[in-house]
Formats: sequence, C-alpha cells, structure tokens
Amino acid sequence: MDLELLIDRAEHEHVLTKDEITALLKSKAINEDLYAAADRVRCRYVGDEVHLRGLIEFSNICGQNCLYCGLRRDNTKIERYRLAAEVIVELAMKAKEYGYRTVVLQSGEAKCYTMDEMTDIIRKIKALDLAVTLSIGEKSREEYAALKTAGADRYLLRIETTDKALYQAMDPGMSWDNRRRCLRDLKELGFEVGSGCLVGLPGQTLESLADDILFFKELDADMIGVGPFIPNNDTPLSYAAGGEFELSLKVMALVRLLLPDINIPATTAMESLREDGRIVALKSGANVVMPNVTEGDYRRLYALYPGKICVNDTPGHCRVCITSKIEGLGRKVSSDYGFRQKCK
Ligand code: 5AD
Ligand code: SF4
Ligand code: FES
Repeated sequence: MDLELLIDRAEHEHVLTKDEITALLKSKAINEDLYAAADRVRCRYVGDEVHLRGLIEFSNICGQNCLYCGLRRDNTKIERYRLAAEVIVELAMKAKEYGYRTVVLQSGEAKCYTMDEMTDIIRKIKALDLAVTLSIGEKSREEYAALKTAGADRYLLRIETTDKALYQAMDPGMSWDNRRRCLRDLKELGFEVGSGCLVGLPGQTLESLADDILFFKELDADMIGVGPFIPNNDTPLSYAAGGEFELSLKVMALVRLLLPDINIPATTAMESLREDGRIVALKSGANVVMPNVTEGDYRRLYALYPGKICVNDTPGHCRVCITSKIEGLGRKVSSDYGFRQKCK
C-alpha cells in the first residue's frame, strides 16, 4: 500500500477502508504527513478559530464501575461531592463572564439529581444565553427528550471502544448495545452528538481503533474526542501500560480526515501526558478546547486519571493560559457558539 497516496486521498475524498486506516495506524513513517494533512483539512473546513467550552465537573459520584476510571463506584479512595443546583448555575454565570459561549455539564453516571433538578438547571443556564452541552451518561430516550426540551443543545457520550467484547470487559455491567442506542436516540432527538474513544486500553488492537473511526463516520457524529487511556492507581487497571500519546494523536488526525467538518477537541488527557499536548493536537486536526471552570478542591476530586492538568489552577488563570497558547499558534478564540457547520 502506498501510504502517502492514502493520506492524499483521505485529505481530498475523506474516505478510507478499515485496512487502509489500520495500515496508517501501524506505520510510524507517515506520522508527520498525517498530522499536516489533518491540519490542512481542519483549516479548510472549520477555519482557524478555536471554540472554547467551559467545563463544569458538577459531581464525581458514579454508579458505574469502568475499570479504567478513578470515579468508579468501587473506588473508596476519593471523597465524593455533588454541587448544589445554585452553585452549578453560578459557575455557568462565571463561565459567561470569562467569555465562554458554551458550558459543558459533566458528572459521573448516577441518579443524584432528579430529572426536574437537571431540567431546571438547564433552563436557568439557557436563560443566560449559553449553549449547553451535557455529559452525564446513559439515560432512557424519554429522559433525553426531557433534557432536550429543557434546552440542552449537545450531548457527549463516548463509545469508549467499538470492540464489544473489550467494552463489556472494561465496563462491567454495561451494555454496548445500549450505549449505541443512546447515541442513536440523541441524534434522532436533535442533539449535536459528541462521542469518542480511549486509545491504549489493554487488549485494544489497531483494527479496533480503525473500527472506532468508521463507527464515528457512520454515526455522523458532530464532535469526536479522542484521548489516551492513562492508568490510575486506584483502579483495577493500575498495572496497565496506557499512555499512548502518539497513537491517540494519529487516531484524532484520521478522524479529522474522514469527518472533515466536525468539532474535535484537543483533549485534557493529551496534555496530561505531554506538556504541549493540546498545542500539538491543535496543529494536527483539533479546533476545540474545553477549559475547566470548576472551582477549588473539586477539580482535584474529579480524578479520572492521575496527572490531570490544571487541578491547582483557577478558572481565570486557565482562560488566560489557553488564550495565549491559541494566539501563540496564530489562531483566534472564536466568539460564536461553535455549532457544527455541516457541509453538504
Ligand atoms: N484515562 C483517560 N481517560 C479516561 N476517562 C475515564 N478514565 C480515564 C483514564 N484512566 C475518560 C472516558 C470518559 C471520559 C469522561 O473520561 O473516556 O468518557
Ligand atoms: Fe463512571 Fe464515566 Fe468513570 Fe465510567 S467513565 S466510572 S461511567 S464517570
Ligand atoms: Fe489550565 Fe493552562 S489551561 S493552566
């Protein structure tokens, strides 16, 4: 296979087969060309503006037990918290003051807020003229519909991996089919849908990462977040290798080539592995950053993985920090909501 030719075709036609994606993931010789092609596609389809989303980590309580995640219910080593509704709305107000046009409400998957409480929070934040993204896990179609009616615009739910057996080994008690059902319901209900995967899970193959990328295309995802799996000592995967920065970046760049007009975040996990991880990602296909607007100790307690960046920083500091990094690249912070502008 002529890999250069494949990159060229992907750049112009946005199509690759599973075997072709796998071959590109396998070769290290073409990495720089792949990143450069993804950067050109990013520039051509979504431009030089970078969309910022203010991330509010409003509760670390989780009823699931994903093997890789520090918030898993069996982890007794972290102190659990749940922010009151008024505090969440206050953080959203501050996010608006910092100039963010979107807030992302993220939590573990638990029933510690009633649907009425959640829809009330969404309505109050929508009244501030902000776009609202939810990242609160698997729910029934009726619940998703109620969240949409309350005004939520987008929903993030990573598929984590499309390898069903691996998924069910990594996420005990969870069903891959139900997760796909959630993503389809969210799409049908009119949410902008974000998904994504972890890279470097034990037992994950390059072929299965190729499947992940094709799954995102089939889903017609509006946003895709790709992050390296980072082993957490307080989980059953403390022994695992993980830390696949380069491979994560390649998966992300290939996502940009195949889904040229979507939003792609430079993920926090990337920068947790490498000091300039988000900058490198922004130069390899990414056009979104999600700075943390959670305050105080809660940032540290939202302990998905070790080495998470910004845990000792304030929201104001992160806003200045990320803006200077973006401007240092000759790019600009966007002042609009940053919805996907679908081509064709
Ligand atoms: N390393 C990297 N990412 C992780 N996540 C959970 N645990 C880890 C880890 N150890 C990611 C999952 C989840 C998102 C909120 O955080 O992909 O969807
Ligand atoms: Fe809970 Fe999400 Fe962590 Fe799984 S990845 S344990 S659902 S917070
Ligand atoms: Fe938080 Fe740089 S974005 S310190």
